[in-house]
Amino acid sequence: MAILVAGGAGYIGSHMVKDLIEHGEDVVVADNLSTGHRAAVDPKAKFYEGDIRDRKFLDKLFDSEDITAIVHFAAFSIVPESMTKPLKYFDNNTGGMITLLEAMKDHGIKHIVFSSTAATYGTPEHMPIKETDPQKPINPYGLSKLMMEQMMAWADRSYGIKFVALRYFNVAGAAVDGSIGEDHGPETHLVPIIMQVAQGKRDELSIFGNDYNTPDGTNVRDYVHVMDLADAHMLALKYLAEGNESAAFNLGSSTGFSNMQMLEAAREVTGKPIPAKMAPRRGGDPDSLIAASDKARKVLGWKPKFDDVHDIIATAWKWHSTHPNGFDDRD
Ligand code: UFG
Repeated sequence: MAILVAGGAGYIGSHMVKDLIEHGEDVVVADNLSTGHRAAVDPKAKFYEGDIRDRKFLDKLFDSEDITAIVHFAAFSIVPESMTKPLKYFDNNTGGMITLLEAMKDHGIKHIVFSSTAATYGTPEHMPIKETDPQKPINPYGLSKLMMEQMMAWADRSYGIKFVALRYFNVAGAAVDGSIGEDHGPETHLVPIIMQVAQGKRDELSIFGNDYNTPDGTNVRDYVHVMDLADAHMLALKYLAEGNESAAFNLGSSTGFSNMQMLEAAREVTGKPIPAKMAPRRGGDPDSLIAASDKARKVLGWKPKFDDVHDIIATAWKWHSTHPNGFDDRD
């Protein structure tokens, strides 16, 4: 009996694999390595290179392994890229889910924990955002994930496949031991870009917009540590194994930090000046996104260990400063 981690070579997926293995689970990873890194996958996990849109690949995997549940991270996740290449997102994210659910139905796999996103809410009407709030995405990435949630709801109704959709807010940080961390090529996310400026790999940070409706004019986001996120997936697997109904949960800290505040926190943690300049707005960014995550805490018993962005940034800094070329040296 094993857990399949689809997208287990990616940033969040590889931390999930590490967490599962540390909890004594048997882990199978499926990843097409389009954005992930083979070297990010714990050697104790069994690795299959392939694409979840490839039905033959999935059939072979499900015939060979006794998979009891799937944790699904295999998706593209860059908001600005989705604005210019929307069909890429609908093809890989939404299309991939169709094939995966079909294969789950045919192979009798009944549980899936899914990486959803705060981007499914679009521009929220009030803050903090609750799971019951309207989901009106303002970018194709958010829409691709909302469609995946909706497909899972129908797969539950028609085939009895139970799901937990975890709507992440902004994920950051790295494994506490510094062994794995965030490494995207090209990098677009705020925290790793700030780290690269601190390392001297970039000259400066461009802050995209300071005319938003927020206290300092820069976007406000809710940061959650990647290992706390992995823990929430462990609890979601347990929740499904106990026979509970399908559900969606927000995962965030319920505290907002502006882009300027993140920059200041990173300057404090790294002791580096980290030069920054103001730049025009980037498309698809809502003013603020802050989670109400009481439901995950109450129903799943989730207790995030990192409640201070300085500590989150410190783990990111440990990874970046000890792996200046990310996984490049290893895969
Ligand atoms: N930003 C900058 N400069 C940069 C990079 C980012 O100012 O060089 C700003 C962005 O404009 C935004 C904030 O930093 O205001 C955070 O941007 P990220 O790209 O780090 O993250 P996003 O908020 O766009 O997206 C992340 C995940 C999504 C998820 C979303 C939910 O990548 O998958 O959080 O909040 F949907």
